Amino acid sequence: MHTWNADLELLSASVIGYASERAKLPKDPRWGARDAQELAEALTGAVSQDGVGGQAALELFRDVLLPACRPMDDPMMVSYVPTAPTIAAVLFDMVVSASSIFAGHWESGAGAIAAENQALRWIMDIAGFPASGGGCFVSGGTAANLAALVTARQYWRSENPDDDRRNRLAIVATHGAHASVDVIARVMDVDFIRVRSDPQGRMTADELAHALEDVGDLCPFAVVTSAGTTNSGAIDDLTQIAPLCRSEGLWLHVDAAYGGSVLASPTHRHVLAGIELADSFGIDPHKWLFAPYDCAAVLYRNPTMAAHAHAQQADYLDYVDDGEWNPSDYALHLTRRARGLPLWFSLAANGTDAYAKAIDTTMEVAAGLADRIRESEEFDLLVEPKLSIVLFRRRGWAAEDYERWSRVNAESGTALIVPSKWEGEICFRICIVNPLTDLESLDELLEDMAASSARP
Ligand SMILES: Cc1ncc(COP(=O)(O)O)c(C=O)c1O
Repeated sequence: MHTWNADLELLSASVIGYASERAKLPKDPRWGARDAQELAEALTGAVSQDGVGGQAALELFRDVLLPACRPMDDPMMVSYVPTAPTIAAVLFDMVVSASSIFAGHWESGAGAIAAENQALRWIMDIAGFPASGGGCFVSGGTAANLAALVTARQYWRSENPDDDRRNRLAIVATHGAHASVDVIARVMDVDFIRVRSDPQGRMTADELAHALEDVGDLCPFAVVTSAGTTNSGAIDDLTQIAPLCRSEGLWLHVDAAYGGSVLASPTHRHVLAGIELADSFGIDPHKWLFAPYDCAAVLYRNPTMAAHAHAQQADYLDYVDDGEWNPSDYALHLTRRARGLPLWFSLAANGTDAYAKAIDTTMEVAAGLADRIRESEEFDLLVEPKLSIVLFRRRGWAAEDYERWSRVNAESGTALIVPSKWEGEICFRICIVNPLTDLESLDELLEDMAASSARP
């Protein structure tokens, strides 16, 4: 590798030293977004003809820029879907960068791709996917859903070459499906057919059948189910939905971006029963499977169909099509970082039992929190949690009380719990993916909420 920097030794000692310390040190939970103008001023001159030098740039990052980013892996960061990468995975991420691997093609990235495929095979095994299955790592759940749905459309077209409804294709999903599915429908220029959810927020086979009875002039081609909706953790009834999709000739995609990680636990994986029947599923190890950003996987029962949809052909690429596994064939990308390697390394370093234990810990904390809420006079548990998301209401509070409590605790660095909505009404939502999030600290937060009265 070349360098233009005379202080190579110093720079590598300080950058690598800083990165490995950073991975191990707790971050400051008060960190978070700052004013754009303030950041622009701090950055003045950093990108300039002479630059500012590596040391100064590192200090700027350490002292100003990183503190303006939320520490998503803090144990009390329990909003959105946070993250909790292992130290092994984070450290190995540096190795991936240092190795300059082009992981689009086997020809250039065979070793990395073989290891990524081992990690993917483990995910498919815990999901009960057949030996014929395969896929690749992509940047996130959005990219996984897109790759799968483009493949589903390709499949529909190949099965229905003469069907004149090609311009009225539609994706079928509930309102609880992730927002990315709406955007994907727009990107693909296809329509949407909504299925009503049951009171727990799930898609059932009966409601799916009902929605399919009345599609007007639309032509459904794929059903997107959720194995853990982002807002409530609801799991669609996959075992009943799968045979219906098969009999209707519809592609079944399972969005398991958040919930799929529960498969790592032999104790809890039964909650995703039916995922093994999917035509494709997506899972985000950067959410609840202890990998750093950005690491998601898209997996197909029949990867050949995905290759028909995604493989790129060009004169200069033809010679690399050697019949081996080219990840660029299975999603919308050509050049790709071997972003599955930190997961693979951490699995190899820690063993899959450690993953099972970590998932069990988060599930226990979520169940414990739900118990506390259920037993309290001050709160209403809104949905029985199936995974590690707990939705609840503080009795007597109005929207401004939720917002005020949330803001005060975020600013003090105590916890990030932002309000959400359930059936149109404001509530709190806690999402636990970090095995270091403990019930005692969550209990203290509940006590604090219980003791804070509504604003008069
Ligand atoms: C169920 C589900 N699907 C898809 C996504 C999108 O994933 P990403 O943000 O990695 O693109 C999310 C993100 O929270 C999710 O929870």
